[in-house]
Amino acid sequence: MKKVLISLVLAASLTVPSAFAKEANSQKQADTAVQFRQAVLQLVRSNMGPLGAMAKGQIEYDAEVMNKNALRIEQLATMMDDYFALDTRKFEVKTEASDKIWEEMEDFSSKSHDMINAAANLQKVAAAKDVDNYRKAIGDLGATCKACHDKFKID
Ligand code: HEC
Repeated sequence: MKKVLISLVLAASLTVPSAFAKEANSQKQADTAVQFRQAVLQLVRSNMGPLGAMAKGQIEYDAEVMNKNALRIEQLATMMDDYFALDTRKFEVKTEASDKIWEEMEDFSSKSHDMINAAANLQKVAAAKDVDNYRKAIGDLGATCKACHDKFKID
């Protein structure tokens, strides 16, 4: 019975990509992990840019762009836990990621989920062409960036 349980637990940990930190085991692996996670965030930034400009009235309201970019941001946000799961603290890497990420992975994950939820909400607002609420929905999404950066990103 015990054996079965153990093998079930092992099987689950091998197949499910989890938010549990795993230590990088070479400089090369750590460098690549940093590249990948920063690439995810650069794509987030490129999709957030037009949304911020729309919220400020610098570019015209466009529900389609809003919906598309919010969908992309949601998808990118779902990758964050996985792309940050590799603990790179032991290596000299060019990063702005705080060590706290791997000390408080659960909180990091809760903040990435706030981003997922805010991006999903923005899609709803965009799809409903809700012109009274899109600024707030974009602002709420932006607030999830700040909440995580304040705690987990070193400037
Ligand atoms: C759950 C935490 C979290 C959330 C949410 C988050 N970020 Fe970040 N972000 C980070 C961390 C940590 C780094 C530093 C990564 C590194 O240097 O390894 C970072 C780095 C960045 C970078 C720099 C990437 C680079 O090339 O060095 C940009 C741009 C960025 N974030 C934009 C955003 C935007 C825009 C949002 C919201 C739409 C956002 N982030 C939401 C944690 C987060």
